[in-house]
Amino acid sequence: MRHRLRELAVQWRFWGFLGLARSVHYSVLGTWGQLRRARRSRPLEKVGQVISCAARPDGADLELEAARLEIRFLAADLARVTWTPGRLPLPYGLAETDWSGAPVRFEETAEGWRLATGDLHLSVLRDGTLVWATPDGTPLRREAPPERRGEEWHHRASLAPDEAVFGLGEHTGPLDLRGTERRLWNSDPMKSYGPDEDPLYMGIPVLQTLKPSGGYLAFYENSHAADFTFNDEIRARFEGGALRYYLTPGPPEHTLQRYTELTGRPPLPPRWALGYHQSRFSYRTEAEIRDLVQGFRKHNLPLSAIHLDIHYMDGFRVFTVDEDSFPDLKGLAEELDADGIRLVTILDPGVKRDKDYRVFRQGSEGGHFCRTKRGRIATAPVWPGWSAFPDFTRAETRAWWGEQHSVLLERGVTGFWNDMNEPAMVALWGERTLAQDVVHDFDGRGGTHAEAHNLYGMLMARATDEGLRRLDPDRRHFLLTRSGWAGIQRHAWMWTGDISSGWDMLHQTVRTVLGLGLSGMPYSGPDIGGFKGTLGREEYLRWFELAAFLPFFRTHSSQSTEPREPWRFGAEALERVRGLLRLRYALMPYLYTLAWEASRTGHPLVRPVWWGAPGEDRLRSVDDAFLLGPDLLLAPVLGPGERRRRTMLPPGEWYSYWSGERYSAEADVEAPLGRPALFVRGGSVLPLEQDRVLELRLFPSAGVRRVSMLYSDAGGIGAEARVDTFLLEVSDGKLALRRSFTGKGHCPYETIRLSLPKAGNWACDVDGQRVPAEAEGWSVRRDFHTAHFLLPGHD
Ligand code: GLC
Repeated sequence: MRHRLRELAVQWRFWGFLGLARSVHYSVLGTWGQLRRARRSRPLEKVGQVISCAARPDGADLELEAARLEIRFLAADLARVTWTPGRLPLPYGLAETDWSGAPVRFEETAEGWRLATGDLHLSVLRDGTLVWATPDGTPLRREAPPERRGEEWHHRASLAPDEAVFGLGEHTGPLDLRGTERRLWNSDPMKSYGPDEDPLYMGIPVLQTLKPSGGYLAFYENSHAADFTFNDEIRARFEGGALRYYLTPGPPEHTLQRYTELTGRPPLPPRWALGYHQSRFSYRTEAEIRDLVQGFRKHNLPLSAIHLDIHYMDGFRVFTVDEDSFPDLKGLAEELDADGIRLVTILDPGVKRDKDYRVFRQGSEGGHFCRTKRGRIATAPVWPGWSAFPDFTRAETRAWWGEQHSVLLERGVTGFWNDMNEPAMVALWGERTLAQDVVHDFDGRGGTHAEAHNLYGMLMARATDEGLRRLDPDRRHFLLTRSGWAGIQRHAWMWTGDISSGWDMLHQTVRTVLGLGLSGMPYSGPDIGGFKGTLGREEYLRWFELAAFLPFFRTHSSQSTEPREPWRFGAEALERVRGLLRLRYALMPYLYTLAWEASRTGHPLVRPVWWGAPGEDRLRSVDDAFLLGPDLLLAPVLGPGERRRRTMLPPGEWYSYWSGERYSAEADVEAPLGRPALFVRGGSVLPLEQDRVLELRLFPSAGVRRVSMLYSDAGGIGAEARVDTFLLEVSDGKLALRRSFTGKGHCPYETIRLSLPKAGNWACDVDGQRVPAEAEGWSVRRDFHTAHFLLPGHD
């Protein structure tokens, strides 16, 4: 009770200025809705026996006593199962709907029917049980006949005792979901949240399992509220709609390619987005922004973006600018752009109910806002007070919302930040979102918020992305979102919302970012230091160390926190942050290559240490270290006072990035402040850049022959691009580096330097010519093809 009172007090401070009356009013309405829904529970009903089964070239259609079952193989390794009754989803999550289908071998068996392709076998039993296996007979999963309760679907699937489960989008707790319960109903905790919070802002109904004999990915295409439990089996309960899901076998290296073929790949971001972002709720004036930039300049710190939180707007009205605080936003953006810094502005979906406000007027006249079942514009309190909410399930509304961005594009803004798009509202208790019976258009088909809620953030991001592509087609924009659903990776990056400060959330961040990556969302990161809380120097540095190796790298904090610019924690911390920033920027070619890879495969940048070695049982439960791409492994320090870090390593040799020492299977290394345990895979070529020099750092490993890639382009959409491929090979004390490339672009560097982690007496021949050794390696022509390194005595 005391905890609840404290929570209410915190929320009151947070929302206080909006007025208690609004909040109480909204909370009472929400609670009434919840109570009405709770009364509707009925017993579970079975689907009954199969009455008929008709084969189709790519699947089968079955009638059961109380349900219908449709099975389609969209590809040999991708099946779609649909149980009805229940409304079919509109394909908002999907990018690819036009599958040609795979031919299926169909046979009747003693227990039922068998459908087989070259990659996947499915047995359908007469009571509606489904049994999945690989062609060699390895079981994947057994599904009990689903059950109905009113509009709900209940679904149960087996789990082997040693099977781990990952995914479900953003969640707290361990990476492996086994032993947990999770709800999918995108929600704003309305406070800075800790490691037990559930649900969060971005649930994605996708699961990946892994056991020694294999695993699979299952994606439930159902946006209704859902509850999952992962104990002896997987139990899922969807509160409405048809029960439709897709299943593809294999480890995530394979399944994520299929999943992102189905739901879309993340486009290549602008390169600057991978740099460092500085934010605060809020930098309030142009003068404050100029001071901030001056601080970065003075302290010799690189910076790629500044985020403007809600105070840049006029009274929190979206698509307006407060002309008193930002009289010349365009001039400011140009000034920053000259320094390589981009402006990112926040936008919330709530449009202030104000007849004198252009966006509200247009929205009302154009029928763009969600309506109550009585036909009135649905309103709820958020930052600007009572606000209306665009219905992003309507094509005209998405187009209208997209057009609004011209106001900011004309002022030189190139990054957009969608917040509060669960959508979140101010209520002191109960549902903090639109009522479930609020009406949505669903592109003419009709529906309610019960189905639209989890889609809302994703469709807002889609409207924004499509608008930006129309308004400014040649540029790659940056879009950040708090909420989303399956397919969100096509449109936006995300951050983990209002996390609290504290060491436990540092570890949580590793788990959450890994889980998002396995859910098809490759770009995420936290508010460095947490949204709220006071940080000491050590904690700040450890957050910074971690975030420097995550895809989205931003400091942000609430208005009640102490300032959090890198120079606020003393000279020593500043020095270490500068080192980490330099390393992050040096890694740009590597990171950008990973972004290119993600755009082609859907593979996350941050991967569990078992990635690529799913048979390594000892690695399966590791969630306090991660791979960044194929070749880097970070084991961040996650506790106070710790100055060493022990970690398990994937198979092969690993070099300490800092010392050049080699480790295998496990390492226990020093990790002083500013220097997290960072390892590089033996056999790889790590591209690092500084100014116009590309350093290729070679990490030879005896007997290993490995290919590393480097993607570069001239920026923008459709720009000329090239991919350099490096093959590093060691044998008999000789080291050979061979380079080839594809594509049209020129090598964007003036000089290339080759280096080795530990200087030795190597002699280096490049394209047949001996190259003199310099202090930091060998400078070679930028179009070199082959380098041979010889240890004295071997030539
Ligand atoms: C929400 C966001 C936070 C932002 C604040 C004000 O709490 O999660 O990042 O600063 O709103 O816009």
